[in-house]
This record gives sequence, C-alpha cells and structure tokens, in this order.
Amino acid sequence: MADAKRARPVTRTGHTDRTLGSRQLAALLPDPAEARPAYRHLARAITTLILDGRIALHVKLPAERELATALNTSRATVTAVYDLLRESGYAHSRRGSGTWTALPEGRAPRGITRLLGPHDTAIDLARAAPGLPRQTLTDALARVSPQLAEHVDTPGYHPYGLPELRAAIAEQFTRRGLATVPEQILVTSGAQHALTLVLGLLCRPGDRVMVENPSYPNALEALRRARLRTVPVPVTDTGWDTGTIEATLRHSVPQLAYLVPDFHNPTGCLMPERQRARILRAAQRSGTWLVVDETLTGLALDVPAPRPFASYAAPGGTGQVITTGSMSKTHWAGLRIGWLRAPARLVTELAGQRIATDMGGSVLDQLLALDLLDRSGEVLPQRLEEMRRQRAALASALSEHLPQWTWRLPPGGLSLWVDLGEPIAAALAERALDYGVRIEGGTCFATDPGLFEQRLRVPYTTPPDTLHEAVRRMAAALADGLTPASAGRRPHWIA
Ligand SMILES: Cc1ncc(COP(=O)(O)O)c(C=O)c1O
Repeated sequence: MADAKRARPVTRTGHTDRTLGSRQLAALLPDPAEARPAYRHLARAITTLILDGRIALHVKLPAERELATALNTSRATVTAVYDLLRESGYAHSRRGSGTWTALPEGRAPRGITRLLGPHDTAIDLARAAPGLPRQTLTDALARVSPQLAEHVDTPGYHPYGLPELRAAIAEQFTRRGLATVPEQILVTSGAQHALTLVLGLLCRPGDRVMVENPSYPNALEALRRARLRTVPVPVTDTGWDTGTIEATLRHSVPQLAYLVPDFHNPTGCLMPERQRARILRAAQRSGTWLVVDETLTGLALDVPAPRPFASYAAPGGTGQVITTGSMSKTHWAGLRIGWLRAPARLVTELAGQRIATDMGGSVLDQLLALDLLDRSGEVLPQRLEEMRRQRAALASALSEHLPQWTWRLPPGGLSLWVDLGEPIAAALAERALDYGVRIEGGTCFATDPGLFEQRLRVPYTTPPDTLHEAVRRMAAALADGLTPASAGRRPHWIA
C-alpha cells in the first residue's frame, strides 16, 4: 500500500463557524421574479432545504442585504423571508450576530422520517428493507438465550465485535474468494455506522470524496455531515463509465471514493468484473481509499453472488480498499449488525474511534447475528425466491397500469429505478400520499438538487398483492393530473 494515504486524526471545528454564503444560498432558491408572493416561496424553499439536510442546522444565514443582491430582489423581501422562517421555527436570531437555521419543535429532518415510515395506513414503498420471518427470529432467540447467559459473567464490551462473529464474517469473505483473517474485521451497528466511522478517521472537512450519482441517500447525508466535498460520477441505466471514473480519480485526487458496485442502490446495476480491476488500479494510482459498500451483494437474483470487489485487486493491492457489509438486507435491519473489512492496522484505529461513540455493539444482537449467519443457507434461498416473485409482480403491475413508465429489471437488489418520462416525482409523491401510497422521488438519491426528478425508486419488498394495489393507486394519483417541477437554478449542495 505504498501510495495509499495514511489515516489521520480529525480535528473538527465547532458549528459556530458555519456560515452560508449569499451566492451559495441563492443558487438553491427559486427565482423570486417567477414566484408570487416571492417571500413565501423563498421561505418554503429554505424550509425544504433544512428538512432535506441540504442546509445544515445551526448555520448562519447570509446578511439580508447580501442575499437580496444575490437574488436580485428587494431587501424587504428577504426581511419578510427571515421573519417567516423565525415565526415558523426554522430560524432564530441572536442579538447582534445574525440569523441561524433551526428545527421547530415537533419536526424531524427527512432522513429520520424516511426511516421511521408512515404513521398512517399508507402502503410504504419508500423503504427497501425486508422483514425477517417471525419463526426464524423466535427460533434464533431460543437458541442464543443460553449462550447469552454465559456472557453475563464477562464485562461484555467488544469494541472489535464478538470474536466468534468476527471469525464467521472473515470466513465468509474467504469463502467468497478473498482470504481474510478476523483481525481484518470490525463488527459495527450496520453498514452505515461502518461508513461513518471510516469518514471520521480518514477524512477532514473539505476533503474531496468521489461518489456515484445517484447514490444511497444516507451515505450522501453522512458525507454532508462530515462536511466533505462530493465529486460525483454518473451511474446510468447501463452502469458506470470507467473512463470517467479514472479521469475523476486522476484529476480530483479524492481522499476517498464510495462505491456500491453490487446491485447499486438505486439503479440496481452490477459492475462488470473488468471495470473493477481498472477502478482499483486507478484508485491505487491516485492514493484514494475505496469504500466499497456490499450491503446488497447477497441479493443476487439472476446471477451468481458477486465476488468481493477487493478480490479483483492485484496481489497485495487490497490495502486501500475498505469493504462494508450488513445483515440488513439479507436478514433484518432491526438487528443493526454490519461490518467492515480493512487492513488490520486500520481496524485497530477504527475500533479506537468507535469507543468514543458506542463502546461496542450489543452481545445479544451479535449472538443472534452469528446464529442467523450460520443458517444463511436456510434463510437466504427463501428470501431470494420471495424477492424474485415480488419483482415480477411489481413489473407486471407497472406494465398493466403505468405502461408509459420505463425501467430495467435489475439482476439483483431490492428495487426498480423507474423513469417517469417527465419531472413529476415530487408532485407524484405528494399526491400519492392522498391515495395511500408513500413513495420516494429520485432527488433524494442525487448529489445535486434538481436531478432525478423524473425518477422513482420502487422497492419490491412488500407482498405481490400490496405491490399491485400500490401501483393501481399511483396510476390513479397520476390520472389526477400533476404539474412537473422546475429544476433548481444551479445545482449545489451545502455541507
Ligand atoms: C447501499 C446501502 N448501504 C447501506 C445501507 C444501510 O445499511 P445498514 O442498515 O446496515 O446500516 C443501505 C440500506 O438501505 C443501503 O442500501
């Protein structure tokens, strides 16, 4: 790993120095001349950006006069915008020190509401997270209960993860074609936790991170919160462009790159083998850490389960690859069990880092995970069969009720990346709620606002009948007539 960058400690600055530039904010807002009354539209746009996480909390908004100039509007309009934001709880003022973003009592950022799901009876097509058969969980609990009792005499802290579970995960990598020892494994509370730990150790605010566009929204959120600069590379319906990725790595020299090569979320694409070796070589040349998210790897529906990405590296060349994985999709997200595979030296540093956050995972969860992993041969084939059936049901319902929409059947994963043919995803998502369906428009998968407004990610993690009914309702919502959204004036995210 001669040219891979070294892990370095991060010194975070407090949030008191976070100021939003007037041009930065103006680029995210609608043109005041095109919306009446302008101050209401502008305030609503800022509110949405705060809830989406695209404007962070506790950020100082630009001075009124500067924002008025950047928006080419009157100062009175901006004063009215800020007044409205203060009244609704999305901003507060500190005497003599400006206006700061805030969250009103009772509101949560969209990242949280997306995970919590509906409080009503709406069919939930916003989350791609299957449940575990009840009997599977009950049986596993009965088996691990005596084992848990044995652990009670120990302190119970396992910052690296339970040794038996580390060994089982290492063995799984080895079986899949990448020789791995337990010292290279860190058990985490899900793949998302693994990514956050890695960002905390390897990146500093302002560092460049190459990321697929579109990508998994919570990973994008983690990058934003770590105040990293994203360098997007496209993933289209036909996958990745190796030349673009090589050029991006060469020119931007990012500190880290985050990739989901297996049944990519949301497109479902599977990266061909020849691209993997080329990307690995290019990352090695630029000294970029590759974080390869293999959360969906087990969901191979029409192809053999892919080999670990890192196994495509030249001998001795895996030192710069960190692989994350999880039981959330193959088993159940409620277990909160994931892992990362990295050089042993880095695993030690990451374990040191996780002690500052959660000291280690729950012993019960890890015993359950170990038991379920041992029995993957029973659970997984059923899951794959169920997903194939549901994918077929969704495809047939879409063909019947919404034949104008297009999509490709992914070889694995949990969702279809549907092209609506016009930028109506946000309007449709809002209207569909009235019809009892909760769906996620494409923009939350984008690195830049205004993108993928004509896309919808539709998971097939619910039973065939439910999927059919959800599609029927979406078609009814669409028949109601929708107004396509206008894209943002200039795409830009705020960390
Ligand atoms: C690509 C990807 N990575 C990570 C996660 C989150 O995994 P976990 O529940 O293990 O944190 C998901 C969940 O949807 C995902 O799709």
